[in-house]
Amino acid sequence: MMIFTDKVTKTYQSGEVTIYALKQASIEIPVSKIVAILGPSGSGKSTLLNVIGGIDRYDSGSIQVNNGTLENLKDRQLTEYRRNNVGFIFQQYNLIPTLTVKENVEVGQELSENPLEMEDILQKVGMWDKKDKFPYQLSGGEQQRVAIARALIKNPRLLLCDEPTGALDEETGKNILKLLKFVNDHYGTTILIVTHNQGIGDMAHMAIRMSSGEIVESSHNETPLDPEKVTWS
Ligand SMILES: Nc1ncnc2c1ncn2[C@@H]1O[C@H](COP(=O)(O)OP(=O)(O)O)[C@@H](O)[C@H]1O
Ligand SMILES: [Mg+2]
Repeated sequence: MMIFTDKVTKTYQSGEVTIYALKQASIEIPVSKIVAILGPSGSGKSTLLNVIGGIDRYDSGSIQVNNGTLENLKDRQLTEYRRNNVGFIFQQYNLIPTLTVKENVEVGQELSENPLEMEDILQKVGMWDKKDKFPYQLSGGEQQRVAIARALIKNPRLLLCDEPTGALDEETGKNILKLLKFVNDHYGTTILIVTHNQGIGDMAHMAIRMSSGEIVESSHNETPLDPEKVTWS
């Protein structure tokens, strides 16, 4: 799935002031790659992720995904696009505390038309042995693995990760990055990772840098680093 954004602008109104969360953001994102979106807090990283994922609408410009044009979709079609094509992972794991690991992942499974197999996914994220545990019985890294499984079981073409390692220590964070790399290798999932950890840019095939809602730099990386070797910051 190729993604194009063409001069995408999104504003928020704060009293008299117009905030440009995205300002004429144009970018081409290749299929089946890992793409890091870097930049300081407030630079528009999450907004870019959310408009590509169909969580948010934008004011002007165009986004082409999978030969579809997002601004032309009605709300119901946008929901369908999101449900069938996109998995989300956030810094907060957003697991349901009263459900077990397996039941949490079932939530993702039920959303999809062609879900993957439960045992296969839980094995791949290393959580099959803990499938009957509740979130409070898990470490942060394990909870993030469950959140990744919940996103992956939908079999999405696009996995959008907003600060996925933001709440994790270096070792656990790198293990999550290794898992994302494995997912990219194994399923060919296009993965966008929002981060202010510069090092994560070095493990990506492409890095996009944002500042004040604008895309100020994009670079391709022919030799992405092994997640183990990235500098953690
Ligand atoms: N719901 C909102 N209401 C008002 N302003 C918002 C909202 N969401 C984001 N913004 C503003 O848009 C800008 C970009 O935000 P965001 O995309 O979250 O940045 P980042 O993820 O890089 O920290 C910031 O100035 C932020 O305050
Ligand atoms: Mg953000």
